[in-house]
Formats: sequence, structure tokens, C-alpha cells
Amino acid sequence: MRYAISGASRGIGLEFVRQLLARGDTVEAGARVPAEARQLASLGREAGARLRIHPLDVTNATSVRTFAIIVGEGPVDVLINNAGIGGKWNPLVDTDFDDMSDVMETNAIGPMRLSAAMLPLVLRGGTRKIVHLTSRMASFADNTPAGVYGFAGGAYSYRMSKAALNAGMRTMAVDYREQGLITAVINPGWVQTDLGGKMAPTRVEESVQGMLRVIDDLTLASSGRFMDYLGKELPW
Ligand SMILES: NC(=O)c1ccc[n+]([C@@H]2O[C@H](COP(=O)([O-])OP(=O)(O)OC[C@H]3O[C@@H](n4cnc5c(N)ncnc54)[C@H](OP(=O)(O)O)[C@@H]3O)[C@@H](O)[C@H]2O)c1
Repeated sequence: MRYAISGASRGIGLEFVRQLLARGDTVEAGARVPAEARQLASLGREAGARLRIHPLDVTNATSVRTFAIIVGEGPVDVLINNAGIGGKWNPLVDTDFDDMSDVMETNAIGPMRLSAAMLPLVLRGGTRKIVHLTSRMASFADNTPAGVYGFAGGAYSYRMSKAALNAGMRTMAVDYREQGLITAVINPGWVQTDLGGKMAPTRVEESVQGMLRVIDDLTLASSGRFMDYLGKELPW
């Protein structure tokens, strides 16, 4: 199968590439600055033609369009919208609104921009899947003192950006259902990456293993869902 993924330079994106190549898939990997994505490049040396690395900044329309044109020489089975940033987690009164704007642009608008550019290629593919990496922090229901993370409030930009992403995914699920698009938002868990930090309980290998299982199992009947990496449905 042919996958395309954003944010493949490190963290969860890099591990997706590693596991997809290990199971024999082909990957079109987007990295903001390919020359700096050394671990990704070293995977490429082993995978040969099954991995191609392209510049991709999801906040930049020209970059996204160019990626879609290069990758568009053939259909894409699965698009993984993985790129994301955490931004500043300040109290409301100390919000850095330029940072909030960057977080919204990267985490919510960027994935819609990439999905829009890639949709024709995905609809030509065999499996027609677009998945987005979201967060449990997007959940309204979980943003209470009784939520599973044991904390509520805070992280305005991150919560808002992932909630907007979830809304975008649900809308895509409705609008393109008849054309066979299967889409979902997946929470990878709290994962040991630069974003998740060292205190995170979940290893990146475990999270990606779980998400690949969830993505493989997605069908039109389960399209439009908010799930975690173990396949559990999450409250909106
Ligand atoms: N780790 C967690 O606990 C956790 C929890 C919930 C959700 N998530 C989500 O999972 C996804 C991956 O997170 P991670 O933990 O792997 O984070 P990470 O280690 O910080 O990696 C983020 C990746 O996104 C890329 N990126 C950032 N801005 C981009 C842009 N404008 N265009 C293209 N690529 C961009 C980065 O590229 P550069 O190397 O160029 O910066 C990097 O490859 C994110 O969407 C995140 O919100 C993570």
C-alpha cells in the first residue's frame, strides 16, 4: 500500500515511516526541512524506492500543492495528517496570540489544507483513508476535573486547535462518504516524543503499532470517529 504522511522528521511521524517500511509498504514522507531529518534519511537508505522524502510545511500553500503534485503521479491509499505542534500552555491572561495563531494554522488549518490537496489522490486509491492525529485534549466531555488526565483547563491553543481539527474531520466524513472516503481522528496516547516529553507513559513504538491496527481496521461503517491508539472510542 502507498502511504503519505506529514511531519515525518521525528517522533510519531518517523516511527510511522519505520513501521510502514518494515511491513513492506511504500511511503511518501513529508518533512519541513528534509536536510535536517537525518533519521528519516537513514531509513531511506535501507528502503530504497519504497521511501521518498519531500519538503512539506503544512502551513504553506505552495509547499502543500507541490507535495501533492509530486506524490500525485500515482494514487495514495492512506494519508496520515501527523504534523503538529504543542504551542505555549499559558493561562488565558498570558496568552501569546501569535503563538495561538501558529498552533491553529499548524494543527487545524494545515491538515485541512493537506487533505484538500490530497483528496483526489486518496479517492483514486484502493482504501481511501485520511486519518488525523488529534489529542484527548480536544474532548469537551473530558475537559472537566473528572477527566481521565486528572486535569482540566489550560492549554487553550492546543485544545482549541485539536477540537477544530476534529470538527473538520467530522465534516469531511459527511461530505465525502458517498465517494467512499474513510476518515477518523486518532489520539496517539501520551507518547514519549519531543512534544509528549519524557514523563509520557507510552512508548512511540507501542503507540504507532496500535494506530496502524486502528487504521487498518477502519471501514466506512466506522468512519467519522474519535478514537485512541487502542481503538477505543473517545467522548467528543
Ligand atoms: N506526543 C504526544 O503525547 C501526543 C499526544 C497527543 C497528540 N499528539 C499529536 O501527534 C502528532 C505528532 O506528535 P509528536 O509527539 O510526534 O510531536 P514531535 O515529536 O514534536 O514531532 C512533530 C512533527 O511535526 C512536524 N511539524 C511541525 N510543524 C509542522 C509544519 N508546519 N509542517 C509540517 N510538519 C510540521 C515536525 O517537523 P520539524 O522536525 O521540522 O519540527 C515533526 O516532524 C501531533 O499532531 C501531535 O499533536 C502527540
